Amino acid sequence: MLNPILITGAAGFIGFHTAKKLLESGLSVVGIDNMNDYYDVQLKEDRLNLLSTYDNFEFVKLDISDRAAMENLWQGHGPFTKVIHLAAQAGVRYSLQNPYDYISSNIMGHLVILEMCRHTKGFEHLVYASSSSVYGKNKKLPYSVDDPVDHPISLYAATKKSDELISHSYSHLYGIPQTGLRFFTVYGPWGRPDMAYFIFTKAISEGKKVPVFNNGNMKRDFTYIDDIVDGILLTLERPPVKAGVAAPCRVLNLGNHKSEDLMDFIHEIEDALNKKADIEFKPMQPGDVIETFADVDETIAITGYHPKTTISQGLPIFVEWYKSYCQIGSD
Ligand SMILES: NC(=O)c1ccc[n+]([C@@H]2O[C@H](COP(=O)([O-])OP(=O)(O)OC[C@H]3O[C@@H](n4cnc5c(N)ncnc54)[C@H](O)[C@@H]3O)[C@@H](O)[C@H]2O)c1
Repeated sequence: MLNPILITGAAGFIGFHTAKKLLESGLSVVGIDNMNDYYDVQLKEDRLNLLSTYDNFEFVKLDISDRAAMENLWQGHGPFTKVIHLAAQAGVRYSLQNPYDYISSNIMGHLVILEMCRHTKGFEHLVYASSSSVYGKNKKLPYSVDDPVDHPISLYAATKKSDELISHSYSHLYGIPQTGLRFFTVYGPWGRPDMAYFIFTKAISEGKKVPVFNNGNMKRDFTYIDDIVDGILLTLERPPVKAGVAAPCRVLNLGNHKSEDLMDFIHEIEDALNKKADIEFKPMQPGDVIETFADVDETIAITGYHPKTTISQGLPIFVEWYKSYCQIGSD
């Protein structure tokens, strides 16, 4: 029998979709999450309720930085030879007020995962979430994994870059096959209420002011959730192999390879809602970057990843989900 796949952050946006896809294909998944209240916990519970309808899903509530709890998990539900590690304290702006959460979840939590993998016989692949935010103020576009990323401009970005470094050392020392995926602004149904696309949709549909930073002068490589999940699962099946002295470790971009104007993105939401936005332009926020744009050539070459979804296809799907979820939620 195959070992179950462990997904950390399974009640989160990307973890939920990844778990669902694996469960639909008949594989067994153990999901873990600490269910923190960074955003609406009900949304995390609703995602979990959906996953719990699958017989091949098990959920354990725990914090990945809790070493004893993680050892118990490995003994009771493992061993896990494939791990998709997505649990983290996300968000750039929140890190300005809550720095310790980032070190605890993103650095200590990451180390605990690595220690668990290190002591697992026959360990196959750790795929973990990094972020496009590691590119900081890089000017060269599109962002390539070969570009230097030594100047993070938020603590969140600094923790993600640190994870990549710690991962490399563990691959080198213990031969753990690992891939860090730098996600580029992921959106879609069951998405995160703290992210701009969700905030815009909510404000427009409620007829409230829509805060738009840097006077709308921003560009983002928006990636639809189904493309991200495909990228994660294609990657999981292609672990890096040790080549000579090089550690079995790599970092790949997962983006859409299209940098969209923020205002075009807002117009797509207006069209999907059939309602105009009452925009309030605001200055640039600390820690934010003006543009992101992913070079995905290496990802395509290694995994066969092919992002397919444009914002005019993906945003109406998100908006439809938002409308139905909020109606159910307001009963
Ligand atoms: N969504 C994006 O656009 C995006 C972009 C770049 C990187 N990422 C990264 O992808 C991963 C998943 O992001 P997401 O959008 O699904 O975020 P999310 O916040 O919806 O999911 C993360 C989940 O991890 C859980 N968690 C946090 N700290 C934990 C801890 N210490 N122990 C156990 N569980 C913990 C949270 O409760 C949450 O359910 C994160 O690592 C994030 O940094 C996301």
